Amino acid sequence: MDLKQLRAFIAIADLRSFSAAAAHTGLSQPSLSRLLKQLETDMGVDLVDRYHRPLHLTEAGAFFYDKIGTILTEIDTVTSMTQRLSAPSAVLNIGFVPSVLYGLLPEIIARLKQSSPDIEVTLKDISSYQQMDALKSGDIDIGFGRFAHQVPWIQQILLRHERYVVALPKAHPLANTNNQRLIDLANNRLILYHQTHLPISTAVTKSKSTSTKQTVPSESITEPLLHLFAQYGISPFTTTTVSDLQVALGLVAAGEGITLVPASLKTVRTEQISYQNLAHENVTSPIYLHTLKDFVHPKIPDLLTAIYHVYERRGITYRQQKFM
Ligand code: BEZ
Repeated sequence: MDLKQLRAFIAIADLRSFSAAAAHTGLSQPSLSRLLKQLETDMGVDLVDRYHRPLHLTEAGAFFYDKIGTILTEIDTVTSMTQRLSAPSAVLNIGFVPSVLYGLLPEIIARLKQSSPDIEVTLKDISSYQQMDALKSGDIDIGFGRFAHQVPWIQQILLRHERYVVALPKAHPLANTNNQRLIDLANNRLILYHQTHLPISTAVTKSKSTSTKQTVPSESITEPLLHLFAQYGISPFTTTTVSDLQVALGLVAAGEGITLVPASLKTVRTEQISYQNLAHENVTSPIYLHTLKDFVHPKIPDLLTAIYHVYERRGITYRQQKFM
């Protein structure tokens, strides 16, 4: 059994067609068939049922496809990491979630370029979850996100907790009230915008009660803003879900509801939106830095120094951490 045979099998199983798999791999159809036959002979197992169109996998083939696909992805990741280790790219590819771009990211990059004038940086807008795969494939060298990820390959550093503020339309009765409590906001339409939800393990659960007082299974609250309210036992009156932060703030500006955003968003659409602090100190959004565990781009320590420099210049509280 060799990698060529395995990749031929995966292409056939992915596309369920010898001709499509041949076009995808750049091999001829006879070569592809031969590789699959050799694999089946080596294993002593039929993996593909050739008599159906589109092609079917046998039961054993479906099992093998499921397991071997994961192993091939790991082989590709290790290969790419090894190549990067032996010849690190001169460019530092940074992935980020949009909310950090409104905050300190531009200032941090400017500081990095000032301290390392030879550095070349690319920036990629990419969700927290997608950052995990992008780190593995080498599309990015570092990711900034707002969610903790328990992924074996990934090293995660908590940079700081940023406080949430409430965004209200300028005409809202609470638009000029500072230090608001979540309970006082519960009567509004809350606009939800997070694409990434919390892992079930950290979610608050709510028990649904019915008019007949029957017990029904409790439901996990994984939406980040609802989770914040649920921690105080509050369920907002009604919600609207939109695709991203910009749309959420657009709806607030149009008077359609309120939302909570990290404090660094406070400068967006200030003609129509009033941002007010919350009374709760622990209603915060963390900012995490993610890299691979086994390969840290040589410029990342400089980037971390730039981040801490900006925090100190702005008097931001943070806990300094080192890479493993
Ligand atoms: C921050 O706001 O703390 C931050 C933003 C982008 C990258 C790193 C940190």
